[in-house]
Parts: sequence; structure tokens; C-alpha cells
Amino acid sequence: MFAWYDRHGRTLPWRRRWPELTPAYHVWLSEIMLQQTVVATVIPYFLDFTRRWPTVCDLAAAPAEDVMSAWAGLGYYARARNLHRAAQIVCSDHGGLFPQNVEGLRALPGIGPYTAGAIAAIAFGQPSIVVDGNIERVMARYFAVATPLPAAKADIGALYATVRPDERPSDFPQALMDFANAVCTPKAPGCPGCPLADGCAARQADAQRDFPVKPPKKAKPVRRGIAFVALDSDGRAYLQTRPERGMLGGMLAFPSAGWTDADQAYDRDDPSASAPFAADWALAGRPVAHVFTHFTLDMDVAVARLARRGDGPEWQTVRPASLPTLMRKVWDAAKRA
Ligand code: ADE
Repeated sequence: MFAWYDRHGRTLPWRRRWPELTPAYHVWLSEIMLQQTVVATVIPYFLDFTRRWPTVCDLAAAPAEDVMSAWAGLGYYARARNLHRAAQIVCSDHGGLFPQNVEGLRALPGIGPYTAGAIAAIAFGQPSIVVDGNIERVMARYFAVATPLPAAKADIGALYATVRPDERPSDFPQALMDFANAVCTPKAPGCPGCPLADGCAARQADAQRDFPVKPPKKAKPVRRGIAFVALDSDGRAYLQTRPERGMLGGMLAFPSAGWTDADQAYDRDDPSASAPFAADWALAGRPVAHVFTHFTLDMDVAVARLARRGDGPEWQTVRPASLPTLMRKVWDAAKRA
């Protein structure tokens, strides 16, 4: 694995090679960003965060709105709130130094078993168990694990411990992740020439695509919502910060209705009834489509142009980069209307 990594491993802005270790702040930040998000998307956000907030205490001291708006576009916004809280705890309770073991790391908000293991191994060179979706796939194939996920997770962690070498503890999980990404891919594994092929049980049975065994997929429900874009005579829009809990929590957003668990269904025969205030609302063409983890959303967009200046802090110049992706799509649809 190390021979493969030394030739083909990626160069990433947070990555160091053994015996050098990546600072824990950089491992943590990159790992939180990489949850549910691909490396290419994360790189510019990682560079922006570390430029603006070079240390964990700089991040801790930043206003929450700045952190949320810097996170905008990465999705899963609870990650950003936990990130900020964890930075504050590390800075105030641990003197700006991350705990160096899995238990201490897991006590921080937003850090689960995978992230704690990854920080312990990559930043502190510890022989922790590091199993993300990529490593899971390699292990499930190598050992032909017949138990479906997620029940197989415990077994896969134990198998990881049996193959983990003593040398280069920070490089090993990163080598496996790069290998999983480049060679042992989900749909088209590159088995010819694979350095692990000789020991791979799935390969020997020519069944590499049958692993990992997954539970049957459920169809995603489709929800219908509506977002309201009001523009004042200066071209400013009415934006609100969403409640901390729930979808797009803590993010700046156009008022909306009908699509979250907390929302009532909205009346498509009378969209204005759900509007934040009375105005001359007109629907903008087709709804905007957006995919969340547990549902697909079709969001109608209603637009109102006011003849006066809006009054109050909600009226703001729209900066699409500070909006979550769904609201950027809503804004684009409103501009086209
Ligand atoms: N995905 C998540 N963490 C990673 C890492 N440290 N290297 C490569 N891919 C990753």
C-alpha cells in the first residue's frame, strides 16, 4: 500500500507525509469538510478558512455569521455550527490544543468515531481505527464481508485493525482512501494491476462489485415547497437567518414554506397565503429542483417587486456566495423571472 501511495497518492493542501504530521487543526477542518463532500469541492473552502482563520483560536473568535457564510455551498450546515462550537471548546478548555486521543476528540461537537480516529492517526500518528466509506469498501471487498452495511461496520473496524501496519500510522489511512478513490472505486474497480488483488477475496470470486453489501435502497420522496423573493426599489432582497435547528439551520435564506418537517404544507392554489408579507407575488416559471439526503425538493419561486425601499435589517444586497446552494438556485430563478 505504501509503495502505491508513494507513487500515486494525492498532494492535498492539508496533507503531510510521514514522518511529518499534519497539524490537528488542519486534519480536523479538512475531515469535517470532507464528510459528505468530495475533495475537489473542499480544497478552495479549506484554503479560504485557513487563510482567514490561521489557528483554531482565530476560528473560535470569529462571528458565527462569518463562519456560516464562509461555509455556504458546502451543505450539511450543522457541521459548520459544530465546527465553530468545537473550536471554542478547544480554544477555551484545551488551551488551543486538540486532545490527542480518540476519547478526548470524540467529546467535541461534530466528531464521531471516524473523525476522531482520523485525527488521532493523521495528526498524532496513533494506531487508531479509521474507517470511512472508502476504506469500508476496500475492506468489504478484500475480506468479502457478507454482512450488509451498516451492520457490518463493527466487523470492518476489527478487520482494519488486523491489516493496519505498525509503520507510517498517519499515512496508512490516507493511502487507503486515495487507493479506494483511484483504484478500488465503487463502480469500476481497477482490479488488473491492483496491488491488493492477490489477497482480495472478492476479486478471487470475481465478485468485487457485490461488495460492500448494501441494504435495499428506498426511493426518495419528493417534496414541494415555495420560496419568496421580494426585491425593493434599490434591488435589495428580503433575507432571514434560519433557525439554528432544522434544514439549512443558521443560514441566510429567502423566506420559504411547505418543505421542511416543521413546515405546514403550502396551498398551491393560493401561494400568497404562505408569503412572509402581503405583496404582489408572482410565480417564476418552473420550480427549482434540489436533492437532499432524505428527499428531493421541487421549490416554487414567488417574486415580488416593491416600489419602495425595504425597511429593516432583513433587506440586504444578495451575495450568492453567502447563500446555501438551494437558495442560490432560488435567486437565479428569481433573476430570470
Ligand atoms: N477523505 C476524507 N479524508 C481524507 C484524507 N485525509 N485523504 C484523502 N481522502 C480523504
